[in-house]
Formats: sequence, C-alpha cells, structure tokens
Amino acid sequence: MWTREALHELVVEKLRDYLFVVVSNREPYVHSYVSGAIHCDMPPSGLTTALDPIMRACGGTWVAHGGGNADRDTVDENDRIRVPPGDPRYTLRRVWLSKEEEDAYYYGFSNDALWPLCHIAYTRPTFNEAEWNVYRTVNERFANAVLEEVGTGKAFVFVQDYHLTLLPRLLREANPELIIAQFWHIPWPNPEAFRVCPWQAEILTGLLGNHLLGFHLRYHCNNFLDTVDRALEARVDRDRYEAIHGGEKTAIRPFPISIDFEDVARRAQDEAVQAEMERLKLSLEIKGMLVGMGLDRIDYTKGIPDRLRAFDRFLERYPHYRNKVVFIQTGVPSRVHVPAYRRINDEIDSLIEEVNWKYETEHWRPIIDLRGPLPPLTVMALRRLADFAIVSSLHDGMNLVAKEYVASSVDERGVLILSLFTGAARELTDAILVNPYATDYFAEAIRAALEMPLEEKQRRMRRMRAIVQENNIYKWAADIVTEMAKVEFGA
Ligand code: G6P
Repeated sequence: MWTREALHELVVEKLRDYLFVVVSNREPYVHSYVSGAIHCDMPPSGLTTALDPIMRACGGTWVAHGGGNADRDTVDENDRIRVPPGDPRYTLRRVWLSKEEEDAYYYGFSNDALWPLCHIAYTRPTFNEAEWNVYRTVNERFANAVLEEVGTGKAFVFVQDYHLTLLPRLLREANPELIIAQFWHIPWPNPEAFRVCPWQAEILTGLLGNHLLGFHLRYHCNNFLDTVDRALEARVDRDRYEAIHGGEKTAIRPFPISIDFEDVARRAQDEAVQAEMERLKLSLEIKGMLVGMGLDRIDYTKGIPDRLRAFDRFLERYPHYRNKVVFIQTGVPSRVHVPAYRRINDEIDSLIEEVNWKYETEHWRPIIDLRGPLPPLTVMALRRLADFAIVSSLHDGMNLVAKEYVASSVDERGVLILSLFTGAARELTDAILVNPYATDYFAEAIRAALEMPLEEKQRRMRRMRAIVQENNIYKWAADIVTEMAKVEFGA
C-alpha cells in the first residue's frame, strides 16, 4: 500500500538532487480578504485536492497563478510563500496575471475553447485569436517563473492540465536538461472532435515538449496518439505508446488519479462530524428522511440538470416516496464569467424551483439547494448523511467527488450512483452505473439505490473502498515519478 512516507522515500531515492516543481494554473492555497481579515482557503479543484498531499510528501516548489485578492500581500519579495499555513511543507510561487490576461487566457481560451473542446457535453467551443495570443503570452510567463525557480540546478518539472499546453516545449527549448512531464486532468477527445481547433498543431507540438504525458485512461492515450497521427508530421509507435516528433520522444501513459484515502476516511470519523450531522438533520429538517446528495463544481459537464430531471421522474413514478426522500444539491460556483456557466446556473435554479413547486407539501421540499461554499466539516457530514450520492457527469476525466464519497462511507451503507462517462466508472464498477442522458433508466437507478438490501450496499461499498484505498493518490504519484526517473536513466 502506498503511503505518504513511502512516496517520500521513493522521491528521495529517484529524484535525488533534482528539485521537484509542479506547475498549474490553479493554486492550492488562496488568500483573500474577508471583512478586512486575511483568510486562506483551498479551492474546489480535483487537481489541487490530488496534488497537495503529494507536495506535502515530496516538498519542492509549486508554481501557480496567484488569483486571491490577498495573495500579493502574503508572499515574500520573490513572490513565494511556504504552505500549508501552520505546517509548511513546500513553497508556493505565485505568478501574477492582469485582469485582461485572466479574462483571455483563463476564462477565454482555457475555459471557453479547450474545456468544451475536450468534453463531449454538446457545448460549442469558442475560438478567438486575441485570446489565443494572450494564452501564449501567459504560457511564456509561467515558463519564465519555472526557469527562475530552477536556476542552474536540475529539476523534474511536472506540468498540470490544459491551461499550459505550450509550456513544456518552451521549457525544453530554454533548458534541455530539465525532465518534463505533464498530466492531462480532463478527457482527450477523438481526432474528429479535436480537429476543429484552429491551433491544434501548435498545441500538440507544445505538449510533445514533454518527456512523459499522462492521461487518466488508456482510451484517452489512444485518442491523443490518433490526434497526433492525423495532425502532425510525427511518428506514432502504438506498441510502445510513444510519439516521436522532431527527433524527440514523448511517452504517453495512463495514470488514473485518486485521493488520499486514509486521510479522508480518518476525517470522516472525527467526533465533530457526528455533531455536524445532528445539527444538519435539525436545521434542514431531514430527520428520518432518506437523503440523496450531489456535490459538484457547478459546471455544465457535471450533468446536474440531468440528475434533477431523473429525480423528478423518480418522484413522478413512485409517489409513495414523496415526503420520504430529499435530494440535497450542494456545489460551488465556477468560471462564472463564461456565458455557458451562467446559463447552467440559471437552468439549475429554474429546475429546482420547478420540481419543488410540483411536489412540495407543508412539511417537505424534495430538493434542498445548498449551493455556495460550505465549510469542509459540513461537506463531510453531508457525505456521511447521504444514503446515496449522485455523480452524473456527461463527460469527466476521472471525478474525485465519487472517490471522496466512497472514502467517507466508513459505515459502508452509502450507495454511489455514477455516470458511465466518468473515468472513475472504470474502477468503481460496484457503483450503480447510469447514462445521465437516459432519464427513465436514471430514475430507476435512484429507486434501486433506495431499495438495495443493506448487505448488498455493504458488499459493494467494501469492494469500492478497497479499490480506492489501494489505488490512492500516493500510488498515482509513485507511478509517475517512477516513469519520470526512467527518462533520466534511459530505462
Ligand atoms: C478541473 C480541471 C482543473 C481545475 C478544476 C477546477 O478539475 O481539470 O485544472 O483546477 O477543474 O476548475 P478551476 O477553473 O476553478 O481551476
């Protein structure tokens, strides 16, 4: 079983005199002013959730955009701060962007072009040349920050996600001694979908600056190799899972990402969680009710309207469940300056309104809307309370919310309803797997979750817990570090 300590030992052995540098757009700790005082929060991001425990174990430097309004007031003269606050284990180096840059690079090209391009959720990508140009400039800004952090020493640079596709090539050209890997946290679509991007060749060339490029699933590795094959003058070796471009080799590998299972399971058993569960039962007036829960970053890829429609269909078909079941929808607003995200929020608002209006009685509202930031203790208490959780993404690279629910179900009585179109569905085959587009079947899945005998719930949850426990985040990192080390030694 991989642990934080075992990963630390591996890193000491494999990375030796190398600095470990992680680069991502989103930072793991955001400082902001709340009524004049500085608060530090962890953002709702699968990426930062997964990488923070690794950085705690490995040490090193994390380079990321400083997006909080107190971020500049909390760094030193080199734009660095040691984190986590109160227990410093690694350095966070913040990169600054102007509002215009953030607008074009983050809201624009990253989230209004690349995000919908890679997720098959029927939201059209918008390509805008001015935004693309800013995206390039911002990738250069990140490259400069990484090169400054590395100085003249040796480094393993571990780049994250679709915001930084041009970075690996820039780094490799500036310092050929660096060992560079990237992990793509979202799906990679097939070449027909990707080819509509007017800058596909530049993006692929940027990504092939990596020595190693990781995806969650082998399926995404295959899609990537197919895309390279169609779009570039490159050699694709399907036996060795490699792309050779301009004489340089990039290894393409699947690494399904995960969570710190032990940490989540331990936190789920805190005494304070029990008290919070009791408080919630009273304040939400759900004592004695069956409880379902959805917990998402509010994003059109998460299939939130689809699950609300399924819940509606379930109540319509099985009226005897009315007054007995509530569905709690929590979630944090995200990327609100992108029009598609504003639309999805409005759609969720009106669906909740409509379903509640249709069924509510004097003492019961079927959907409880808890959208907005919630304290971690409340989130944990909700996971423990929920008789079933729904993860209904239309398309999702992995989905760590599903794994967190499994890790939190310490009494093994929760049921996970999970979309077939998540990476997690490949591992969590004991969930009730659903196609979120098929509302009638989805409604039946809710019924099946509620009517599943306790023994079966426990059998399924036990198996899923064992899978997540074994394939934890430390194993994910260890597999990547081991592959990265092979680059240096040419193994
Ligand atoms: C996904 C992406 C991450 C991103 C997260 C939250 O998980 O793969 O890169 O950090 O969403 O989105 P945000 O735009 O708030 O960082």
